[in-house]
Parts: sequence; C-alpha cells; structure tokens
Amino acid sequence: MPSALIYLDHAATSWPKPPVVLRAMADFLEHMGGNPGRSGHRLSIAAGRIVYEAREAVAGLFNAPDPLGVIFTVNATHALNLAIHGLLAPGDRVVTSGVEHNAVMRPLRKLEGRGVEVIVVPGAPDGLLDADDFGRAITPGTRLVIVNHASNVVGTLAPIAEIASYAHAAGALLLVDAAQTAGVLPVDMQALGIDLLAFTGHKGLHGPPGTGGLVLGEGVDASLIEPLLQGGTGSRSEYEIQPDFLPDKFECGTPNGAGIAGLLAGIGWVQERGVQAIRQHEVALTRRLIEGLGSIPGVQVYGPTDARQRTAVVSFTMHGRQVSEIGLRLDDEAGVLCRVGLHCAPAAHRTIGTFPQGTVRFAPGPLTTPDEIDAAVRAVERIARS
Ligand code: ALA
Repeated sequence: MPSALIYLDHAATSWPKPPVVLRAMADFLEHMGGNPGRSGHRLSIAAGRIVYEAREAVAGLFNAPDPLGVIFTVNATHALNLAIHGLLAPGDRVVTSGVEHNAVMRPLRKLEGRGVEVIVVPGAPDGLLDADDFGRAITPGTRLVIVNHASNVVGTLAPIAEIASYAHAAGALLLVDAAQTAGVLPVDMQALGIDLLAFTGHKGLHGPPGTGGLVLGEGVDASLIEPLLQGGTGSRSEYEIQPDFLPDKFECGTPNGAGIAGLLAGIGWVQERGVQAIRQHEVALTRRLIEGLGSIPGVQVYGPTDARQRTAVVSFTMHGRQVSEIGLRLDDEAGVLCRVGLHCAPAAHRTIGTFPQGTVRFAPGPLTTPDEIDAAVRAVERIARS
C-alpha cells in the first residue's frame, strides 16, 4: 500500500484545498457567524460583507457586468437547473451539444417530456465541436443554446465566441457550463458573449463543495427567468411574494456563508497564482500525460492530441481490461486517485465511442508535478504488463 497519494481527480473536485480556504471558513464560523443580510447586528453585517466581496470576486474573475448578477447556488447543477427551468417553457426550442454532462441533459430530457424541443448537435469522435454545426441548428426562434466550455470526459474546449455569435444572431441566449473551466482558463463573459454562466466553487476555484453560482451577463433580462425556489431573503419581509430584484429573486434561505468565505479565499488563491500560469502548467502536464499514456501498448487515449485544445482531463482505456479494475489497482498499488466509468456524461461517452463501459480519467491540478504524472504513467504501464 503506497503512503503518498497522487491525486488526479481534480475534474471531480480539487484536493487538497489551499490552507487559506480552510482558514477563511474557520474564521467565518468563529468571528463572523451571523446570518448575512438578516439580523443587522455586527456579526450579521460582517457575514454579509464577506458574501458581497465574494460576489465582486466572482464578477471580476469572469468579467461579468454586475456583482448583483452573481447568484449563489449550491453547485453548478443547481445553477444550470435554475437557468434551464427558469427560461424554458413548453413550445420553446433549445440547442445543446453531444458532449454535455447530465447536469444539462437530465433537466433538458425532463422538459422535453413537457413539450420543449431539444436539439443535440453531435461532437466529433475526439469530442471537438464545430461552431458551424451550431450555426445550422440554431434557427430563428431558438430560445436557449447550452454548451459546456470544456468536456468533463475529454477536456475538449468549445468554440464559445463563435457559438455565441450564432445564438445572438437568432435571438437566443447562450448558457455556458463552466464547471470544468472556472479557475483553469481565462473566462471573459463579455469578450466571449456569454449570457449566463454556471460555475462550481469546488473544482478549479479550490473552494469547498456546496458553492457555485449562475452569473448573468450584459443585458440579460432577469425578469424573464423564473426562480426555482421562493422563500425568505432578509429583504421586503412585509410581502409574501418573492422580491423581483437581484440577487434576492433567486437566492432564498440562509446562504452557505462559510462555504462562500472559502470560495472567496479560493478565488484569491487562484488570482494570486494567475489563471494563465495555472493554464500553462496544466497544458504541460496534459501533454506529458497524452504522450506517456499513448506510448503504452494496449492503451487508447481519447480526445485531441493537441493539449491546447483541451483542459487537463485525459481519458483512456486499456485493451481487454475493465476500467473499474484499473481504477482499483491504481488506488491500491500506486496511490493514484482518479475517476472511472461514465463521469455522469453518457452523451460524451457515446460521442467518443466509450459507452457503456466508460474510461479511466486522469485530471491533474495546479499543484500536480511532472514527477507525479510520470509515476502515474508507470503505474498504468505496470497494470498493462501484468
Ligand atoms: N462532474 C464531476 C466529474 O466529472 C463530478 O467528475
């Protein structure tokens, strides 16, 4: 049993969290534990300040127009559901891709049963999407276009700006699932033309689970989005109807203050290292992984061979072996921690030809070293030989 762990599961959640994140969460609970926006005493005000600072940090990171358009949710799935259920009604048409996660596909299939028309633009076998295919699918009258910024299975990056142009020309809104890219790539909502951005706090932003959000872009009319929940907001308490202003229209019940404090610290940690520097480091690790795994007889690596066309997410299979066996042996024999199977994204696995078995997925992070990549590749080599 190896003593050191090689953590290659950052696409599922990043680990270990930076010490500043742990300290910020403890500090929140110890010194600012009031209910933000509710009670009005000093601890409540201190908590509210942290939550607002986090809104500003998120808006700054994504170049969003207004911190009040940052709606905190419990995760990216919640944010995607808010946008999807909030915007689509029977008779609407929505266009998405063949590499989406079930966080998009399951709400869409649910709505399809209620009369929403769902168009899926297929991806290539390496997971790449062609913007012109979207151009053909996005007809006038399309209400919403949904695409993940990067696949959680093969890391392929979508041509967001081009898809945004097609969406806007047809009068549709663009919702981007940035679960795999927030904190690992520069994401500029205004430059890319993103109308709604769903993010999670616990992956590339290095915050805790239980944090995420939906960010509204320039000119998005929040009155067109129905909230998923109604409840107490600490504002306009004299009314029994939900306030219509941001962010209270979409945020009710006590927020995850400690989690949001951790998210704020995580964003600070990412900004200090620099998103570009993190990206360069991860491109180099991805290149090393693709080359190393690709040279092992019997191993097939999926996705584009150019590391710049993807995030640090590398899926592979081994001829004649179950992915579950490989995952268990990597953990037991080499301390390599990864995720195997379908990664909650059956559509993406169908696209790359690995449904229903799935793949073994290696996903390094900003602190992963080249030596760890080499050790993980050697562990795969040993399994292939035995
Ligand atoms: N969606 C996350 C993953 O890809 C959990 O592993």
